[in-house]
Amino acid sequence: MPKPKYHILVCKNTRPPGHPKGSCGERGAMGVLNQFNFGVMERNLIGQVIVTPTDCLGPCQMGPTVVVYPGHRARADAFGNLHVAVPR
Ligand code: FES
Repeated sequence: MPKPKYHILVCKNTRPPGHPKGSCGERGAMGVLNQFNFGVMERNLIGQVIVTPTDCLGPCQMGPTVVVYPGHRARADAFGNLHVAVPR
């Protein structure tokens, strides 16, 4: 298998409702994960981009959280509060 150009980690961790830390799962992480997977397939980027569901990445209150390797200047970029856009 060739080395992928990008690796996208999507936190899908879910905590019980009302948990003080919150979680990406209760904020729509599975929809974000599905959109990344669909986008990779739609753009024929299989093998170049890998999308991996993960457990907690840390900034739970900003979820859904996504980390992309490599990001800007070869470091990882982290994104939070992502939502699935629904076309009108
Ligand atoms: S639950 Fe997603 S970053 Fe912690």
